[in-house]
Amino acid sequence: MKIKAGLFQFAPSFGDISRNVDRALATLASASADLIVLPELFSTGYQFTSIEEARDLAEEVPSGLTTQRLADFSHERSAFIAAGIAERDGDRIFNSAFLTGPEGYIGVYRKTHLFHEEKLWFSPGDTGFRVWDTTIGRLGVMICFDWFFPESARTLSLMGADIIAHPANLVLPFCPDAMVTRCLENRVFAITANRTGSEERGGRERLDFIGTSQITSCRGKILARASRDGEEYIEAEMDPAEAQDKQLNRYNNLFADRRPEKYR
Ligand code: ACM
Repeated sequence: MKIKAGLFQFAPSFGDISRNVDRALATLASASADLIVLPELFSTGYQFTSIEEARDLAEEVPSGLTTQRLADFSHERSAFIAAGIAERDGDRIFNSAFLTGPEGYIGVYRKTHLFHEEKLWFSPGDTGFRVWDTTIGRLGVMICFDWFFPESARTLSLMGADIIAHPANLVLPFCPDAMVTRCLENRVFAITANRTGSEERGGRERLDFIGTSQITSCRGKILARASRDGEEYIEAEMDPAEAQDKQLNRYNNLFADRRPEKYR
């Protein structure tokens, strides 16, 4: 069964959660996709300058307003949404992404591989990689820099993911092209939703985000790619079941041919 997957690339306004959520939902209101991915930290912006600032902007998941608003939208539209959020859990703050669907909130993933100054604000993710079996396929989540570690997409694929929802705030230029390989080597679809614009807060180094969000097929084809700078909603059709066939040719199976005993 074919589904339509979409993503919204934009430049969040730092610290203005209600404005960022309004903007995303206004765009999603005219989208007809079954699965939509929003960028990493889409509701807060990226460049925190203190733990206190990160804690003030972080929300509990799923009780916080951002999760609730997206869960309500998912329910009304019968769509799945994966979105990046700063998550507060007691004294800890995580760089997380939650998944919602027609029945509302589904679950949360906390970023495993923290990038650069994220290590100053966020605790390393403690959920491990997660895959949810849904009515549109098996959905896994990784966040931005997780892509740099091939183990992330491999683990999600070995767990059975058909599609990897990949909220991102990319500053290095490599990811969009690299996702072709990640998808090819695992025969998995990926939706990399990046942001645009730049942030230079509190005298810290300026960060220029590279846009270029991308939907990649399980055969390594770029199904849709956004511009570097533009606020854009893009979508593509895919059949998630295609990702379940790991047979490369008559003799090679991507998973059965692995030799983990040689990998150490
Ligand atoms: C990143 O992980 N936000 C580069």
